Amino acid sequence: MTIFKNKTDLIAFVDTIKSDKKTLGFVPTMGALHQGHASLIIEGLKHNDFVAVSIFVNPTQFDNNEDLVKYPRTLDSDVELLSNISEERIIVYAPTVEDIYGNDVISTSFSYDGLEHEMEGRFRDGHFDGVGTIVKRLFEIVRPDNSYFGEKDFQQLMIIKKLVEKYNIPVKVNGCKIFRAKDGLAMSSRNTRLKPEYRAAAPFIYKTLNTAKEKFGTKSANAVTKWVTKQFAEHDLLELEYFIIADVKTLKTVKRKSNKKSYRAFIAVYADDIRLIDNIALN
Ligand code: PAJ
Repeated sequence: MTIFKNKTDLIAFVDTIKSDKKTLGFVPTMGALHQGHASLIIEGLKHNDFVAVSIFVNPTQFDNNEDLVKYPRTLDSDVELLSNISEERIIVYAPTVEDIYGNDVISTSFSYDGLEHEMEGRFRDGHFDGVGTIVKRLFEIVRPDNSYFGEKDFQQLMIIKKLVEKYNIPVKVNGCKIFRAKDGLAMSSRNTRLKPEYRAAAPFIYKTLNTAKEKFGTKSANAVTKWVTKQFAEHDLLELEYFIIADVKTLKTVKRKSNKKSYRAFIAVYADDIRLIDNIALN
């Protein structure tokens, strides 16, 4: 497994891949890798000669300093997980903050035609400026042919597609299905920080999303939203931050259903001090 700690060496390696006319896939991550990340990498390996995986806890996308400080950093076990997928065809880029940002750890401001004002953008100040800044920079360094993002962060996936379109970045952005634990909880690096009682309670999130989906067949978005809000109000451990049913194209909250449009339900929940997000396609 080749691990690059600085961009100069990585850029030289990517130059050789390009001159050999090989294709390069790219999976950006913040590490603490799990099977959800692995599913993106495996998808990348199916369609490219090499897959670059970046491991970088990006400070500018955190609106909460405690979350940044406590974010799990597990490079050794990350590298082991990647070695078990492929020693030869995966390359790792695990830069320092300085290698990416120099001395200015700040984000650029982006407009994503309004996508940034919904959901995560509303509840996490500056988050998508930080995500846009890091992903654009990584695309410029890695220069991949294809990139892979999870539907787990559906709004992020839409925003990256918009970023690539607006800046004419020559990379294809592929969305990948949400990978779940057996009990339905969407895999997340933050799950490892859940205390056992909260981990045991957390599958309630996906269970509720499934029932909401069923109800959306016959009830209004408003009625379903009220029902979900009540389920969490009655729950002892999980605290709802938002539940929103939105149009998949604009991510705006649906007021009146139309059978010509596609909708998705999005949820953010606090389990103790750990914030979990999930979503489900409704039609
Ligand atoms: P991170 O949370 O590490 O996620 C990296 C990628 O893995 C994202 O595209 C995310 O959607 C995907 N992913 C995470 N859990 C998943 C699951 N259970 N199923 C499928 N895909 C999953 O998202 C980020 O990092 C950062 O914002 C990043 C894009 C790297 C920019 O810093």
